Amino acid sequence: MSKKILVTGGAGFIGSHLVDKLVEMGNEVVVVDSLEPQVHTKRPNYLNPKARYLFEDIRAESVLAKAIEGVEVIFHEAAAVGVGQSMYQIKRR
Ligand SMILES: NC(=O)c1ccc[n+]([C@@H]2O[C@H](COP(=O)([O-])OP(=O)(O)OC[C@H]3O[C@@H](n4cnc5c(N)ncnc54)[C@H](O)[C@@H]3O)[C@@H](O)[C@H]2O)c1
Repeated sequence: MSKKILVTGGAGFIGSHLVDKLVEMGNEVVVVDSLEPQVHTKRPNYLNPKARYLFEDIRAESVLAKAIEGVEVIFHEAAAVGVGQSMYQIKRR
């Protein structure tokens, strides 16, 4: 049965493959991805045209509230990967 699904980090490596599969299975997919410059030098050309993208930061409460409207399932793949910053941006959340 088709569901409305949120994938955070859906423009990233894991998330984008997940989005493709969920769309292929007939689901309505919403993505929140801030296109972190460390990961993306430009908007990726592999984004699934059948998903809806919000290019925003999931840490913003207003973004989260908008993104979860009507959503039944959430896959949380947004993450700060590349952990060098954990040594010098200790207070970053
Ligand atoms: N790639 C792997 O082999 C692997 C293996 C095991 C676990 N994981 C985990 O899976 C998750 C995703 O990994 P990945 O390899 O796809 O990383 P990735 O960097 O390719 O994707 C992460 C995405 O999250 C987005 N993002 C980061 N902060 C955000 C924010 N605040 N709001 C919205 N979007 C934000 C980035 O722009 C990026 O597109 C991570 O938790 C990682 O630890 C990955």
